[in-house]
Amino acid sequence: MAGETLPDHVLQNRAHWDALASDYAASGERHWSEDTPTWGIWNVPESNLRMIPDDIAGKDVIELGCGTAYVSSWLARRGAKVVGIDNSEAQLETARRLQREHGSDFPLLHGNAESVPYPDASFDFAISEYGACLWADPARWVPEAARILRPGGRLHFLTNALLLMLCADEDESKPATNKLLRPSFGTYRMEWPGDTGVEFHLPHGEWIALFRRSGFEVEELTDVLPPAGSTTRYPFVTLEWARQWPSEEVWKVRKSISP
Ligand SMILES: C[S@@+](CC[C@H](N)C(=O)[O-])C[C@H]1O[C@@H](n2cnc3c(N)ncnc32)[C@H](O)[C@@H]1O
Repeated sequence: MAGETLPDHVLQNRAHWDALASDYAASGERHWSEDTPTWGIWNVPESNLRMIPDDIAGKDVIELGCGTAYVSSWLARRGAKVVGIDNSEAQLETARRLQREHGSDFPLLHGNAESVPYPDASFDFAISEYGACLWADPARWVPEAARILRPGGRLHFLTNALLLMLCADEDESKPATNKLLRPSFGTYRMEWPGDTGVEFHLPHGEWIALFRRSGFEVEELTDVLPPAGSTTRYPFVTLEWARQWPSEEVWKVRKSISP
């Protein structure tokens, strides 16, 4: 927000995503053209993961780290009143172009999902697919999501599975093996050698403790199993690996009704 000093990881990730934006335009275009959502690096169908609640029409919704905003576009098409927020103006430029091309119009804000410029209890549903849930500091964005959700409001997100992050090669062009390369305890902020981004990965017990401290109840944790024959453009994991161990995880949490 104006006048606010941004944390170093937010500034670093802004530069990182401004530089990467052109590489993400094609996948944004493809996803905007899909009627039926598919998720994550394996394009797992919505029917497997049920990321979007059935009763979304008419609901106030925010996508935290919307990138090219295709998730927001799916929600808008289902009748939600959606807002996308993203830390990268270059990603939002693609999102705005795709809005024009698809005749879609919903607010897109340039900002940090750790500090959302909306009053308390503004939204019924918040979602993130490899957005703030991966690139923002959980100690900041999870309580902020709780603040802007109404009691009973839901937060769903999809990110890398912890196990993959423990096995992933430092060289992301090489696929993960079945060897644990780093400890689980203490995993939080991660910067990969030769890469300019800052990611956040938490052991599951720490996610659960953070959700509960922030006023959320955990409804579901899904280890994503990509269907046989799935493909990905990312070289850091093979389908053979991802059909034995979780490469992605989906969290569904709900803001407690009673304070
Ligand atoms: C991988 S994209 C996510 C969008 C899309 N679902 C996808 O998978 O391509 C990651 C996005 O998170 C955004 N992001 C990173 N940190 C953020 C923060 N603190 N607040 C809001 N957005 C953030 C980046 O700018 C980037 O556009």
